[in-house]
Amino acid sequence: MFPRVAWVHRGLLRSCARLPVCMSSSGIGQKGILANQVAVVTGSTDGIGFAIARRLAQDGARVVISSRKQQNVDRAVAALQGEGLSVVGTVCHVGKAEDRERLVTMVLEHCGGLDFLVCNAGVNPLVGSTLGASEQVWDKILEVNVKAPALMLSQLLPHMEKRGKGVVILVSSIAAYIPSVELGPYNVSKTALLGLTRTLSLELAPKGIRVNCLVPGVIETDFSKVIYKNEAFWNIVKENYKLQRIGQPEDCAGLVSFLCSPDASYITGESISVAGFSPHL
Ligand SMILES: NC(=O)c1ccc[n+]([C@@H]2O[C@H](COP(=O)([O-])OP(=O)(O)OC[C@H]3O[C@@H](n4cnc5c(N)ncnc54)[C@H](OP(=O)(O)O)[C@@H]3O)[C@@H](O)[C@H]2O)c1
Repeated sequence: MFPRVAWVHRGLLRSCARLPVCMSSSGIGQKGILANQVAVVTGSTDGIGFAIARRLAQDGARVVISSRKQQNVDRAVAALQGEGLSVVGTVCHVGKAEDRERLVTMVLEHCGGLDFLVCNAGVNPLVGSTLGASEQVWDKILEVNVKAPALMLSQLLPHMEKRGKGVVILVSSIAAYIPSVELGPYNVSKTALLGLTRTLSLELAPKGIRVNCLVPGVIETDFSKVIYKNEAFWNIVKENYKLQRIGQPEDCAGLVSFLCSPDASYITGESISVAGFSPHL
């Protein structure tokens, strides 16, 4: 009934199917590599964020789910609690200061602190060129994709600092390295996240907080439908992607769990691609 969850750390292959307590929805008695830790994942009611939230919870963390729409939060929380996972949820549009504040309050009230922050929420309101983008489009993309992760972290940081450790994961895109002409300002925002990763990792290293960046290739979600529903794209996949497929949200989730785990304790400031091989990198 429950999905089999396996992970390999320190050379051990372990199966969550053999650990019934990891399915507790109370958060008490959790087991797994991330047991008794608290994770916030933004934009986590669908796609990559949802897969990350599920994986962190399967690996033992208590996870705070959020996105802009209450009905999506309710659906995601019900689905994961139905799998016996320890999750709570709240509405949080990452570009809104009051929503971020509400998220912080919920984290403290329901979880008493925080260990992991995954800044996954991102938008692309424009398919078009950089110079064709209006000021409004620029503001929205930079606000949600670049400013919001930094502001969210600054609001949550004091609570991570209290624990003397923490992990932050930003979510960039392969578009940061291989810009697409149709995604002008989005490319730029995702490149900025590579810089934000380096800067934050430097600033936060003395506090014991690691900052890394997930760089997804094309992953099958609602967000990327315009790309993978296009036949020309599949010709590129056949020619260049040796794995002959596009990615699934779950392909990204394992890396995030690893980066949060103690096995990644000496990894910070890195941007890691999950892109099924790109001939351009
Ligand atoms: N899919 C890809 O091929 C791909 C490739 C590279 C990078 N990425 C990056 O991966 C991240 C996730 O993309 P995805 O493909 O998983 O997208 P998705 O399937 O469309 O899911 C997006 C999630 O974010 C929420 N969301 C959207 N805007 C938000 C906001 N302003 N504040 C809070 N939550 C918000 C959505 O729920 P609500 O509608 O309820 O808010 C939903 O839960 C993005 O940062 C994207 O740039 C994706």
